[in-house]
Order: sequence, then C-alpha cells, then structure tokens
Amino acid sequence: MNAIVFDNVSKHYGDVLAVDDLSLAIEPGKTVALLGPNGAGKSTSINLLLGLLAPTHGTVSIHGRNPAQAVRDGELGAMLQDGALLPELSVKELVELVRRLYPDPLGLDEVLQLADLTGLADRRAGRLSGGQAQRVRFALAVAGAPRILLLDEPTAAMDVESRLRFWAGMHDYAAGGRTVLFATHYLEEADEHSDRVIVIARGKVAADGTAAEIKAGAGGQAVRFVIGEQPTAGLDTLPGVSAVEVGAGVATLHTSDVDATLAGLYRGTTLDVRDVRLSGADLEAAFLAITRES
Ligand SMILES: Nc1ncnc2c1ncn2[C@@H]1O[C@H](COP(=O)(O)OP(=O)(O)O)[C@@H](O)[C@H]1O
Ligand SMILES: [Mg+2]
Repeated sequence: MNAIVFDNVSKHYGDVLAVDDLSLAIEPGKTVALLGPNGAGKSTSINLLLGLLAPTHGTVSIHGRNPAQAVRDGELGAMLQDGALLPELSVKELVELVRRLYPDPLGLDEVLQLADLTGLADRRAGRLSGGQAQRVRFALAVAGAPRILLLDEPTAAMDVESRLRFWAGMHDYAAGGRTVLFATHYLEEADEHSDRVIVIARGKVAADGTAAEIKAGAGGQAVRFVIGEQPTAGLDTLPGVSAVEVGAGVATLHTSDVDATLAGLYRGTTLDVRDVRLSGADLEAAFLAITRES
C-alpha cells in the first residue's frame, strides 16, 4: 500500500486554484522532494495531508486512511512553515510534551540526538537562534516516531551549519524505512537529499522522477564567461548549446553538453574568453523548460 496518495485533488481558496487536479502516489520508505517556486501549492498540499485543509475535490489518503484518522493514529509528524514554539518551555520540555501525544514515541535522548540538540536540552525556546529553533521544530516532528514525516521548507532560516546537521538527522530518520516528503524551492536540496523529485508548478505536477532525470529535462547546465566587447555571433551554433544570453560583457551559454561546448569554444573560435564558470540549470530555467514541455 502507498504511504501517500493524492487522487484528483483540487483546492480552491475563493478564486485561487492552489492545487489543480493533482494525482500522485508515494511508496513507503522513500524520501521525496516536492520542488516548486513560491505559490506552486507545496504548503497547501502538505496541509491537505495533515487534514488542516479539506480538498475542494478529490481525496487524500495516508496508508489507506483519511488524514484525520492518520493523525489520530500517530502516523504523521510535521514541520510547518510557521510553527510557533512556546517560548517559556525548554527544548527538553517541548519534546516531552509532544512525545506524550503519541502512542509509541522515540526516546527523549534519541530525539535530541537526531536533531543535534543534546547540548541545548535545557535552553528555553525563546532564547534559541533561528536555526536552532528550526532544529527544535524538526525534533518535535520526529518525536512521535511517525511513519511519515512532512517537512515544509525545513531549512528556511537555517545557517549552513544548522542545515548540515538537519539533513544528517533527516537521513538518519529516513534510514529506518520511514517515508519523508519535504517541500523546497531549491533544486540543489531536492537533488542532494531525495530519492525522487516531484516538481509542482501552478498546483500541477510538472515533472516527476529522479533528480538526474529532472535536471536532464531542465535543459542541462550553463557555461558563463567574460566576453567583453568581442562579437558574439556563432556562440549559438557551438555543440550542445540551446540558448545564449549576453549582457554587461558576460555571455551565458545554456548547454546539454558542457564538455562539447567548452571544446568548441576553445578550439572552434578565436575568442579571448576569461573567468569561465559552470553552473547547473537554475530553477527558473528548469521550470521554463519543464513547463514548456508539459
Ligand atoms: N489562505 C489562503 N488564502 C488565499 N490564497 C492562498 C492561501 N494560502 C495560499 N494561497 C494561494 O495559493 C497558492 C499556493 O500557495 P502555497 O500552497 O502556500 O504555495 P507554496 O507553499 O508552494 O509557496 C498561492 O497562489 C497562494 O497565494
Ligand atoms: Mg509554502
């Protein structure tokens, strides 16, 4: 049985169609990224899973149950975008509070370790940094040992170190055969931390596959370099190049084959090329490519 199923789900807020006839199924044990720009419908989808919102049409199910039942059974843990922490309670007290709500929670020490909060157990929530508070939200999401973990843009407000610690904890938690669905608008996060990426745009699935498949569909990579005032004619015919942008003395070549493009640039032209940089397709380009296709 699937862990999560959306069956022709739509959600309207008045005139706004936030989720548009969405159908998808997620197998148990997978870590899945829900990747999309702001306003794509990620939070709405997660709130539908939690039963915080009801679909306008269609059904959402969790291990074959409706969201309310799944929440009652302690199947779901969640880290929401705007979850407040009671400022007067310590980290330990907050975790204990949540542990008591679940039938078969993780041990306190295990929760603190997963979220890398052992050294902060007695700190009051009101005195935590933004990144530490986010890690407490993660601790509260896993405290009940839910089989399904929902994380809505979990790394927002985290510094680099908190991010590293957070992802390590997430992978430890997922390794126990649990299902994780996390929303993000960073292609890199989806790439690095998931088994499967579901791209949503305007409430619909725009692409679905492994990160490598998504990136291949997103038009590959970009080669960027300083070109100054030299003529740019012919750049668009270099091997692999699908599009060229030039501005402020910098040329950007979108390519499906970086090696071939660079070889063509150095061997096939007489341009004096400086400060060459490579980058993955950015999300903007990815969405254009993906939504053009679909
Ligand atoms: N409570 C609300 N009332 C009206 N419109 C909303 C509400 N919440 C979200 N929306 C709209 O629904 C769409 C999807 O929002 P959301 O699910 O928050 O997207 P995401 O999490 O991907 O940024 C957006 O157009 C947003 O403006
Ligand atoms: Mg959101």
